[in-house]
Amino acid sequence: MIFIAGATGFVGRHLIRSLSSGKYKVRCLVRSDKEAGLCTSPGFETTKGDITDSESLKGKLEGVGIVVHLVGIIKEQGEGTFEKIHIEGTKNLVDEAKFSDVEHFFFQSALGADLRSPFKYLRTKAEAEEIVKGSGLPYTIFRPSLIIGPGDGFTENIKELLRLGPLVPVPGDGKARFQPIFIDDWVRCFLKIIDSRNFKNRVFEFGGPEHLSYNEILKIIMKEMEIKNPIVHIPPAITKAGLPFIQVFRSLGRTFGMKMPDVSPEQIDLLQIDNITDMDSVEHLFGFRPVGFEETIRKTLRNQPDKT
Ligand SMILES: NC(=O)c1ccc[n+]([C@@H]2O[C@H](COP(=O)([O-])OP(=O)(O)OC[C@H]3O[C@@H](n4cnc5c(N)ncnc54)[C@H](OP(=O)(O)O)[C@@H]3O)[C@@H](O)[C@H]2O)c1
Repeated sequence: MIFIAGATGFVGRHLIRSLSSGKYKVRCLVRSDKEAGLCTSPGFETTKGDITDSESLKGKLEGVGIVVHLVGIIKEQGEGTFEKIHIEGTKNLVDEAKFSDVEHFFFQSALGADLRSPFKYLRTKAEAEEIVKGSGLPYTIFRPSLIIGPGDGFTENIKELLRLGPLVPVPGDGKARFQPIFIDDWVRCFLKIIDSRNFKNRVFEFGGPEHLSYNEILKIIMKEMEIKNPIVHIPPAITKAGLPFIQVFRSLGRTFGMKMPDVSPEQIDLLQIDNITDMDSVEHLFGFRPVGFEETIRKTLRNQPDKT
Protein backbone atom coordinates (compact mmCIF):
# COMPACT_ATOMS: atom_id res chain seq x y z
CA MET A 1 0.00 0.00 0.00
CA ILE A 2 1.28 3.47 -0.96
CA PHE A 3 0.31 6.34 1.32
CA ILE A 4 0.38 9.79 -0.32
CA ALA A 5 0.44 12.96 1.77
CA GLY A 6 -0.02 16.00 -0.48
CA ALA A 7 -2.15 13.99 -2.90
CA THR A 8 -4.46 16.93 -3.65
CA GLY A 9 -1.63 19.16 -4.89
CA PHE A 10 -0.22 19.59 -8.38
CA VAL A 11 2.38 16.80 -8.15
CA GLY A 12 0.08 14.54 -6.12
CA ARG A 13 -2.77 14.65 -8.65
CA HIS A 14 -0.45 13.76 -11.52
CA LEU A 15 1.07 10.96 -9.46
CA ILE A 16 -2.33 9.53 -8.55
CA ARG A 17 -3.31 9.44 -12.20
CA SER A 18 -0.18 7.51 -13.12
CA LEU A 19 -0.65 5.02 -10.29
CA SER A 20 -4.27 4.26 -11.15
CA SER A 21 -3.51 1.37 -13.49
CA GLY A 22 -4.83 -1.11 -10.95
CA LYS A 23 -1.32 -2.31 -10.04
CA TYR A 24 -1.07 -0.32 -6.82
CA LYS A 25 -3.12 0.12 -3.68
CA VAL A 26 -3.08 3.76 -2.68
CA ARG A 27 -4.30 5.66 0.38
CA CYS A 28 -4.45 9.45 -0.04
CA LEU A 29 -4.37 11.88 2.86
CA VAL A 30 -6.86 14.71 2.37
CA ARG A 31 -7.61 17.66 4.60
CA SER A 32 -11.23 18.29 3.72
CA ASP A 33 -14.34 16.22 3.08
CA LYS A 34 -14.75 17.80 -0.34
CA GLU A 35 -11.60 15.94 -1.47
CA ALA A 36 -13.03 12.57 -0.41
CA GLY A 37 -13.80 11.83 -4.08
CA LEU A 38 -10.17 12.38 -5.12
CA CYS A 39 -9.41 8.69 -5.42
CA THR A 40 -12.02 6.77 -7.33
CA SER A 41 -9.83 4.14 -9.01
CA PRO A 42 -10.05 0.55 -7.79
CA GLY A 43 -7.67 -0.04 -4.90
CA PHE A 44 -7.61 3.67 -3.98
CA GLU A 45 -8.99 5.23 -0.82
CA THR A 46 -8.85 8.57 0.99
CA THR A 47 -8.32 9.26 4.65
CA LYS A 48 -8.72 12.56 6.42
CA GLY A 49 -5.84 14.17 8.30
CA ASP A 50 -3.40 17.03 8.58
CA ILE A 51 0.32 16.43 8.96
CA THR A 52 0.60 19.24 11.51
CA ASP A 53 -1.89 17.41 13.74
CA SER A 54 -0.25 14.18 14.93
CA GLU A 55 -3.53 12.86 16.42
CA SER A 56 -5.17 13.01 13.00
CA LEU A 57 -2.48 10.68 11.61
CA LYS A 58 -2.87 7.98 14.25
CA GLY A 59 -3.41 4.56 12.67
CA LYS A 60 -3.52 6.01 9.16
CA LEU A 61 -0.35 4.19 8.08
CA GLU A 62 -1.46 0.71 9.09
CA GLY A 63 -0.60 -1.74 6.31
CA VAL A 64 1.39 0.91 4.40
CA GLY A 65 4.66 -0.09 2.69
CA ILE A 66 5.74 3.27 1.32
CA VAL A 67 4.93 6.77 2.49
CA VAL A 68 5.12 9.46 -0.19
CA HIS A 69 5.49 12.83 1.49
CA LEU A 70 4.67 15.58 -0.99
CA VAL A 71 3.35 18.13 1.48
CA GLY A 72 4.99 21.51 1.18
CA ILE A 73 4.25 25.20 0.90
CA ILE A 74 6.09 27.92 -1.03
CA LYS A 75 4.35 30.77 0.79
CA GLU A 76 3.46 31.05 4.48
CA GLN A 77 -0.17 31.75 5.26
CA GLY A 78 -1.59 32.33 8.74
CA GLU A 79 -0.69 29.39 10.97
CA GLY A 80 0.73 27.54 8.01
CA THR A 81 4.37 28.50 8.53
CA PHE A 82 7.38 26.76 6.98
CA GLU A 83 8.39 25.52 10.44
CA LYS A 84 4.96 24.09 11.17
CA ILE A 85 4.39 22.37 7.84
CA HIS A 86 7.88 21.40 6.70
CA ILE A 87 9.49 20.62 10.05
CA GLU A 88 6.73 19.72 12.54
CA GLY A 89 4.61 18.09 9.82
CA THR A 90 7.49 15.93 8.60
CA LYS A 91 8.31 14.88 12.16
CA ASN A 92 4.70 13.83 12.76
CA LEU A 93 4.58 11.80 9.56
CA VAL A 94 7.96 10.18 10.23
CA ASP A 95 6.94 9.28 13.80
CA GLU A 96 3.75 7.64 12.55
CA ALA A 97 5.72 5.83 9.81
CA LYS A 98 8.13 4.46 12.42
CA PHE A 99 5.25 3.36 14.62
CA SER A 100 3.72 1.47 11.69
CA ASP A 101 7.03 -0.08 10.55
CA VAL A 102 6.80 1.48 7.10
CA GLU A 103 9.40 0.01 4.71
CA HIS A 104 10.24 3.09 2.68
CA PHE A 105 9.80 6.82 3.25
CA PHE A 106 9.86 9.08 0.18
CA PHE A 107 10.31 12.79 0.80
CA GLN A 108 10.02 15.53 -1.80
CA SER A 109 12.48 18.25 -0.88
CA ALA A 110 13.66 20.95 -3.31
CA LEU A 111 16.78 21.80 -5.27
CA GLY A 112 18.84 24.22 -3.17
CA ALA A 113 17.68 22.81 0.20
CA ASP A 114 20.40 23.80 2.63
CA LEU A 115 20.54 24.19 6.42
CA ARG A 116 22.44 27.48 5.92
CA SER A 117 20.20 28.90 3.21
CA PRO A 118 19.02 32.49 3.77
CA PHE A 119 15.61 31.35 2.48
CA LYS A 120 13.22 29.83 4.96
CA TYR A 121 11.65 27.62 2.30
CA LEU A 122 14.98 25.98 1.48
CA ARG A 123 16.24 25.94 5.07
CA THR A 124 13.14 24.20 6.42
CA LYS A 125 13.19 21.70 3.53
CA ALA A 126 16.77 20.84 4.58
CA GLU A 127 15.67 20.50 8.21
CA ALA A 128 12.89 18.15 7.13
CA GLU A 129 15.46 16.11 5.15
CA GLU A 130 17.50 15.72 8.36
CA ILE A 131 14.43 14.38 10.18
CA VAL A 132 13.84 11.83 7.41
CA LYS A 133 17.51 10.79 7.24
CA GLY A 134 17.78 10.49 11.02
CA SER A 135 14.60 8.42 11.34
CA GLY A 136 16.22 5.05 10.74
CA LEU A 137 13.60 4.37 8.04
CA PRO A 138 14.85 3.47 4.56
CA TYR A 139 14.31 6.71 2.63
CA THR A 140 14.56 8.36 -0.76
CA ILE A 141 14.74 12.14 -1.06
CA PHE A 142 14.08 14.01 -4.30
CA ARG A 143 15.43 17.53 -4.76
CA PRO A 144 13.89 18.62 -8.06
CA SER A 145 14.14 22.02 -9.73
CA LEU A 146 10.89 23.57 -10.99
CA ILE A 147 8.30 20.97 -11.95
CA ILE A 148 6.09 22.07 -14.82
CA GLY A 149 2.83 20.58 -16.10
CA PRO A 150 -0.89 21.23 -16.31
CA GLY A 151 -1.91 23.04 -13.12
CA ASP A 152 1.57 23.84 -11.77
CA GLY A 153 1.72 26.98 -9.60
CA PHE A 154 4.66 28.59 -11.44
CA THR A 155 3.08 28.55 -14.90
CA GLU A 156 -0.35 29.48 -13.51
CA ASN A 157 1.20 32.60 -11.90
CA ILE A 158 2.96 33.56 -15.14
CA LYS A 159 -0.24 33.05 -17.15
CA GLU A 160 -2.10 35.36 -14.78
CA LEU A 161 0.70 37.94 -14.98
CA LEU A 162 0.66 37.86 -18.78
CA ARG A 163 -3.10 38.32 -18.92
CA LEU A 164 -2.85 41.53 -16.90
CA GLY A 165 -0.94 43.36 -19.74
CA PRO A 166 0.02 45.71 -21.35
CA LEU A 167 3.49 45.33 -19.79
CA VAL A 168 5.12 42.18 -18.41
CA PRO A 169 6.84 43.01 -15.12
CA VAL A 170 9.90 40.94 -14.16
CA PRO A 171 11.30 41.31 -10.66
CA GLY A 172 15.07 41.92 -11.04
CA ASP A 173 17.13 41.27 -14.16
CA GLY A 174 15.53 37.87 -14.87
CA LYS A 175 18.96 36.30 -15.38
CA ALA A 176 18.77 33.66 -12.63
CA ARG A 177 18.68 30.19 -14.17
CA PHE A 178 16.23 27.33 -13.60
CA GLN A 179 16.04 23.77 -14.82
CA PRO A 180 12.37 23.00 -15.35
CA ILE A 181 11.33 19.38 -15.57
CA PHE A 182 8.08 18.11 -17.07
CA ILE A 183 5.73 16.51 -14.52
CA ASP A 184 5.46 13.28 -16.55
CA ASP A 185 9.25 12.98 -16.34
CA TRP A 186 9.19 13.59 -12.58
CA VAL A 187 6.59 10.77 -12.35
CA ARG A 188 8.86 8.52 -14.42
CA CYS A 189 11.72 9.16 -12.00
CA PHE A 190 9.40 8.43 -9.08
CA LEU A 191 8.17 5.16 -10.57
CA LYS A 192 11.81 4.00 -10.89
CA ILE A 193 12.34 4.27 -7.15
CA ILE A 194 9.28 2.61 -5.73
CA ASP A 195 10.03 -0.97 -6.58
CA SER A 196 13.80 -0.90 -6.36
CA ARG A 197 16.24 -1.24 -3.49
CA ASN A 198 18.91 0.69 -5.44
CA PHE A 199 17.28 3.99 -4.67
CA LYS A 200 17.09 3.68 -0.91
CA ASN A 201 18.93 5.99 1.49
CA ARG A 202 19.86 8.39 -1.28
CA VAL A 203 19.22 12.02 -2.13
CA PHE A 204 18.60 12.83 -5.80
CA GLU A 205 19.13 16.32 -7.20
CA PHE A 206 17.72 16.69 -10.67
CA GLY A 207 16.00 18.86 -13.25
CA GLY A 208 15.16 19.05 -16.94
CA PRO A 209 17.70 19.00 -19.79
CA GLU A 210 18.28 22.79 -20.01
CA HIS A 211 19.44 25.68 -17.85
CA LEU A 212 17.10 28.55 -18.69
CA SER A 213 16.99 32.06 -17.29
CA TYR A 214 13.69 33.40 -16.01
CA ASN A 215 13.71 35.75 -19.04
CA GLU A 216 14.08 32.80 -21.41
CA ILE A 217 11.34 30.84 -19.65
CA LEU A 218 9.03 33.83 -19.85
CA LYS A 219 9.75 34.37 -23.56
CA ILE A 220 9.00 30.72 -24.37
CA ILE A 221 5.69 30.92 -22.49
CA MET A 222 4.84 34.24 -24.19
CA LYS A 223 5.63 32.77 -27.61
CA GLU A 224 3.40 29.79 -26.95
CA MET A 225 0.60 32.07 -25.69
CA GLU A 226 1.20 34.48 -28.62
CA ILE A 227 1.72 37.44 -26.30
CA LYS A 228 4.06 40.17 -27.50
CA ASN A 229 3.81 42.73 -24.69
CA PRO A 230 7.08 44.43 -23.67
CA ILE A 231 8.97 43.06 -20.66
CA VAL A 232 9.94 45.57 -17.98
CA HIS A 233 12.48 44.80 -15.28
CA ILE A 234 11.58 46.13 -11.83
CA PRO A 235 14.08 46.12 -8.95
CA PRO A 236 13.17 43.34 -6.49
CA ALA A 237 12.90 45.84 -3.58
CA ILE A 238 10.30 47.88 -5.47
CA THR A 239 8.41 44.72 -6.47
CA LYS A 240 8.33 43.63 -2.82
CA ALA A 241 7.18 47.08 -1.67
CA GLY A 242 4.31 46.78 -4.17
CA LEU A 243 3.11 43.37 -2.93
CA PRO A 244 0.63 44.73 -0.34
CA PHE A 245 -1.06 46.73 -3.14
CA ILE A 246 -1.16 43.62 -5.32
CA GLN A 247 -2.99 41.87 -2.47
CA VAL A 248 -5.63 44.62 -2.53
CA PHE A 249 -5.95 44.27 -6.32
CA ARG A 250 -6.18 40.48 -5.91
CA SER A 251 -9.16 40.84 -3.61
CA LEU A 252 -10.78 43.37 -5.95
CA GLY A 253 -9.93 41.23 -8.98
CA ARG A 254 -11.59 38.19 -7.40
CA THR A 255 -14.82 40.19 -7.09
CA PHE A 256 -14.77 40.69 -10.86
CA GLY A 257 -13.66 37.14 -11.61
CA MET A 258 -10.06 38.19 -12.47
CA LYS A 259 -7.06 36.22 -11.22
CA MET A 260 -3.77 37.80 -10.21
CA PRO A 261 -0.45 36.17 -9.35
CA ASP A 262 0.02 35.34 -5.69
CA VAL A 263 3.65 35.71 -4.63
CA SER A 264 5.52 36.34 -1.40
CA PRO A 265 8.61 38.53 -0.84
CA GLU A 266 10.67 35.35 -0.44
CA GLN A 267 9.47 34.05 -3.82
CA ILE A 268 10.65 37.32 -5.40
CA ASP A 269 14.07 36.73 -3.81
CA LEU A 270 14.11 33.09 -4.95
CA LEU A 271 13.68 34.35 -8.52
CA GLN A 272 17.05 36.12 -8.19
CA ILE A 273 19.16 32.99 -7.55
CA ASP A 274 20.11 30.07 -9.78
CA ASN A 275 18.24 26.82 -9.13
CA ILE A 276 20.16 24.37 -11.26
CA THR A 277 22.16 21.16 -11.19
CA ASP A 278 23.76 18.82 -13.75
CA MET A 279 21.89 19.16 -17.08
CA ASP A 280 22.15 15.40 -17.61
CA SER A 281 21.03 14.57 -14.06
CA VAL A 282 17.92 12.61 -15.07
CA GLU A 283 19.82 10.63 -17.67
CA HIS A 284 22.61 9.85 -15.19
CA LEU A 285 20.38 9.04 -12.23
CA PHE A 286 17.29 7.51 -13.84
CA GLY A 287 18.49 6.41 -17.28
CA PHE A 288 16.24 8.38 -19.65
CA ARG A 289 16.24 11.76 -21.40
CA PRO A 290 13.56 14.18 -20.13
CA VAL A 291 11.70 16.42 -22.58
CA GLY A 292 12.86 19.98 -23.19
CA PHE A 293 11.10 23.08 -21.95
CA GLU A 294 9.44 24.14 -25.22
CA GLU A 295 7.70 20.78 -25.45
CA THR A 296 6.94 20.85 -21.73
CA ILE A 297 5.24 24.22 -21.98
CA ARG A 298 3.33 23.24 -25.12
CA LYS A 299 1.93 20.17 -23.34
CA THR A 300 1.25 22.20 -20.20
CA LEU A 301 -0.66 25.01 -21.91
CA ARG A 302 -2.63 22.71 -24.17
CA ASN A 303 -3.94 20.66 -21.28
CA GLN A 304 -6.12 22.59 -18.90
CA PRO A 305 -5.34 21.96 -15.23
CA ASP A 306 -7.78 19.29 -14.38
CA LYS A 307 -8.94 18.21 -10.96
CA THR A 308 -9.04 14.42 -10.76
N1 LIG B 1 6.00 22.29 -7.96
C1 LIG B 1 7.31 22.48 -8.02
O1 LIG B 1 7.85 23.10 -8.96
C2 LIG B 1 8.20 21.93 -6.94
C3 LIG B 1 9.59 21.98 -7.09
C4 LIG B 1 10.39 21.44 -6.08
C5 LIG B 1 9.82 20.87 -4.95
N2 LIG B 1 8.45 20.87 -4.84
C6 LIG B 1 7.85 20.26 -3.65
O2 LIG B 1 7.01 19.21 -4.11
C7 LIG B 1 5.90 19.06 -3.22
C8 LIG B 1 4.61 19.10 -4.02
O3 LIG B 1 4.55 20.32 -4.71
P1 LIG B 1 3.20 20.80 -5.41
O4 LIG B 1 3.59 21.76 -6.48
O5 LIG B 1 2.36 19.65 -5.73
O6 LIG B 1 2.53 21.63 -4.21
P2 LIG B 1 1.00 22.03 -4.04
O7 LIG B 1 0.27 21.93 -5.33
O8 LIG B 1 1.00 23.33 -3.32
O9 LIG B 1 0.43 20.89 -3.07
C9 LIG B 1 0.74 20.88 -1.72
C10 LIG B 1 0.01 19.74 -1.09
O10 LIG B 1 0.30 19.75 0.33
C11 LIG B 1 -0.93 19.62 1.02
N3 LIG B 1 -0.83 20.20 2.35
C12 LIG B 1 -0.45 21.45 2.69
N4 LIG B 1 -0.46 21.58 4.03
C13 LIG B 1 -0.84 20.37 4.52
C14 LIG B 1 -1.04 19.86 5.83
N5 LIG B 1 -0.85 20.63 6.90
N6 LIG B 1 -1.42 18.57 5.98
C15 LIG B 1 -1.65 17.78 4.91
N7 LIG B 1 -1.49 18.21 3.65
C16 LIG B 1 -1.10 19.49 3.47
C17 LIG B 1 -1.94 20.35 0.15
O11 LIG B 1 -3.24 19.97 0.55
P3 LIG B 1 -4.53 20.90 0.31
O12 LIG B 1 -4.99 20.58 -1.08
O13 LIG B 1 -5.47 20.46 1.36
O14 LIG B 1 -4.08 22.32 0.45
C18 LIG B 1 -1.52 19.81 -1.20
O15 LIG B 1 -2.02 18.51 -1.39
C19 LIG B 1 6.02 20.18 -2.19
O16 LIG B 1 6.65 19.65 -1.05
C20 LIG B 1 6.95 21.18 -2.86
O17 LIG B 1 7.69 21.93 -1.92
C21 LIG B 1 7.63 21.36 -5.80
